[in-house]
Amino acid sequence: MTSPVSRPPATEPESADRIAAFEARIANGESIEPKDWMPEKYRQQLVRMMSQHAHSEVVGMLPEGNWITRAPSLRRKMILLSKVQDEAGHGLYIYCGTETLGVDRHELVEQLLSGKAKYSSIFNYPTITYADVGVIGWLVDGAAIVNQTVLAKASYGPYARAMIRICKEENFHKRQGFELVAHLSQDGTPEQKAMVQDAVDRWWWPSLMMFGPHDKDSPNSDSLLRWRVKRFTNDELRQRFINLTIPQARAVGLTVPDPDLVFNEETKNWETGPIDWDEFWRVVKGEGPCNRERLAARNKAHDEGAWVRAAATAYAEKHAHRKQTEAA
Ligand SMILES: [Fe+2]
Ligand SMILES: [Fe+2]
Repeated sequence: MTSPVSRPPATEPESADRIAAFEARIANGESIEPKDWMPEKYRQQLVRMMSQHAHSEVVGMLPEGNWITRAPSLRRKMILLSKVQDEAGHGLYIYCGTETLGVDRHELVEQLLSGKAKYSSIFNYPTITYADVGVIGWLVDGAAIVNQTVLAKASYGPYARAMIRICKEENFHKRQGFELVAHLSQDGTPEQKAMVQDAVDRWWWPSLMMFGPHDKDSPNSDSLLRWRVKRFTNDELRQRFINLTIPQARAVGLTVPDPDLVFNEETKNWETGPIDWDEFWRVVKGEGPCNRERLAARNKAHDEGAWVRAAATAYAEKHAHRKQTEAA
């Protein structure tokens, strides 16, 4: 199936004057729209960031999707189904946004299926127990909200607007997760309490890694900040997430697996011990516990969906033909 490729952004050559005018618009808080002139590097950074984001939404359906058939009640099943379905919508929405930068979605999907594209490493960890569903909603969607709330004020209009809508649904995801975590940890049997604590122990550090490397090791941060594609650094956002999450953990009697965690009275920040960046890079490079499984699942779904794409193309062609005949 072919999709209409949006008109590429204005292609006039770059000059110091043009870049200065572009940066002045951004400094002025204006939003950049698809038909506006933009530096090629801005466009490329957005394509990189938005496509990674879209892939993460789509691959992110897999770990929790694993529990849909085994959710313990109809209510839990409905909540989980609707959450996983939302993630599919987020992926499609952001792929559409990426197309406004002149990229074909199929090119991006191909990059994902071939293993060339990156997506959030957190989805390369397994969901071992049902408590993982709650902890992912609380921590992983919680971390996504911290990231995406600031992206809703990003300089590129289509991305920012997509984030406003997506954040509303992410809030539901986080709440359903925390509700499940609170239920297991407060009203659960001793086994359920242990199960939810074990899930927190496994997901805590990967959640902190979701914000990306430390600022000093993040090569793209400078220009992304200057062009307001990003508005805060990785470390600032990570700190915000930690400060929000530790009191929530304490409220439901859970601990995070960090013996060095302390509250700094002066800065009012919760300070964590060191993050294992070796583990992060191992997973990014494809050696996480589930990297191969995730890609295989996406490829299988893509192959099995071939008939749907063929049917949709045939339907679109039939309608285009009918319109032509009617117009003639
Ligand atoms: Fe999402
Ligand atoms: Fe979500």
